[in-house]
Amino acid sequence: MIVAVGENGAIGKENKMLWHIPEDFKYFKETTMGKPMIMGRKTFDSIGRPLPGRLTIVITRDENWSYDGVKVVHDLDSALAAAFAEAEAKNAEEVMVVGGAQIYQQAMEHTDRIYYTEVHQSYECDARFPALDKAIWQEVSREDHQAKIDGKPDYSFVVFDKK
Ligand SMILES: NC(=O)c1ccc[n+]([C@@H]2O[C@H](COP(=O)([O-])OP(=O)(O)OC[C@H]3O[C@@H](n4cnc5c(N)ncnc54)[C@H](OP(=O)(O)O)[C@@H]3O)[C@@H](O)[C@H]2O)c1
Repeated sequence: MIVAVGENGAIGKENKMLWHIPEDFKYFKETTMGKPMIMGRKTFDSIGRPLPGRLTIVITRDENWSYDGVKVVHDLDSALAAAFAEAEAKNAEEVMVVGGAQIYQQAMEHTDRIYYTEVHQSYECDARFPALDKAIWQEVSREDHQAKIDGKPDYSFVVFDKK
């Protein structure tokens, strides 16, 4: 998984991101490049297009939903199967679950690594990431960064592996 999370677990509100941190966009791009990405239909709507260099796999219950250049599936198992087939075909070392809240929750049991950007501020939100159980998740790396622009939050790039 890859996710950016506020201090209070916030990840989104009204289907939008809560902050604009260019360095986190860059980190997202570098970390996901070349790897198949699984996302919920709402997250796809908020991004609005498939991102270049990575297969976008969208989960929806809507049998009529489609979008040029996007692989559409109707359950998580099919998403995982499509993602692992693509990873094998393209020699990608992992598949990425990129949200949102519903998909993170359902995919958690299948996940063995989380690229977790801590955003050091709290936000009003309607989408949250679950608190990580430290008995299960071990922090394996951390990079702390101070905001480069006044008024923007500090942030940390943390990686958790399942023990
Ligand atoms: N901070 C971050 O790193 C980050 C990352 C990603 C997203 N976000 C935020 O998260 C929010 C969106 O999250 P969300 O929970 O509302 O939506 P979501 O998880 O992106 O998408 C939910 C949709 O996925 C489909 N879906 C979910 N489970 C399914 C299943 N088992 N089988 C088939 N389809 C299924 C349904 O689509 P249909 O309704 O089409 O059937 C459902 O409405 C936004 O605010 C976004 O900005 C934040």
